[in-house]
Amino acid sequence: MGDATEDRRKAATYPEGDVLGVLYAQHARIRDLFTEVREAAGAERSELFAELRALLVAHETAEEMIVRPVVTDNGGKAVADARNAEEAEATEVLDELDGLEPTDADFDKLLASLEKSVDAHAEAEETAEFPLIERSCDEERRLGMGRMFQVVETIAPTRPHPSTAGSPVAQYAVGPIASLVDHARDAVSKVLPGQ
Ligand SMILES: [Fe+2]
Ligand SMILES: [Fe+2]
Repeated sequence: MGDATEDRRKAATYPEGDVLGVLYAQHARIRDLFTEVREAAGAERSELFAELRALLVAHETAEEMIVRPVVTDNGGKAVADARNAEEAEATEVLDELDGLEPTDADFDKLLASLEKSVDAHAEAEETAEFPLIERSCDEERRLGMGRMFQVVETIAPTRPHPSTAGSPVAQYAVGPIASLVDHARDAVSKVLPGQ
């Protein structure tokens, strides 16, 4: 199981705004949110899950559109294709989970299986994909990708809230997963170069 503290430690080893630091920090927040959803109950659980799904969709969509083309262009096509396939699979589980109430017994089972696959996926990115980006992109390029990646914050703020009660999940973020994915794709396409 990946470790949020270790991800934050690694995030801090990169210059401010470097896409690799941003990615490690988002992985840490995703891992924390899985723990928080698992441990919460009632309305708090629903709100935390809404936050988790919004962040997962925004993070994976931004990776797919900002990171994967760079990985592919630098000799990592097989790596990029494998990561995209894992993300597509996770989105399917997320969609299934979305049809259940957080109080449903199956919700816990499916949440555990999603956590396991997202964890393995994040590990695969950190070990197979991040080193490739580090080798093939200079700091200026990584800062540029990091700036594009800030779009995730406009979809799903990654800072924990002082109180989870009334956390500001935007209205679109509570819609179906498919509309959340569409919203994320629109937002990311606006920050891509040449748009
Ligand atoms: Fe990913
Ligand atoms: Fe990731």
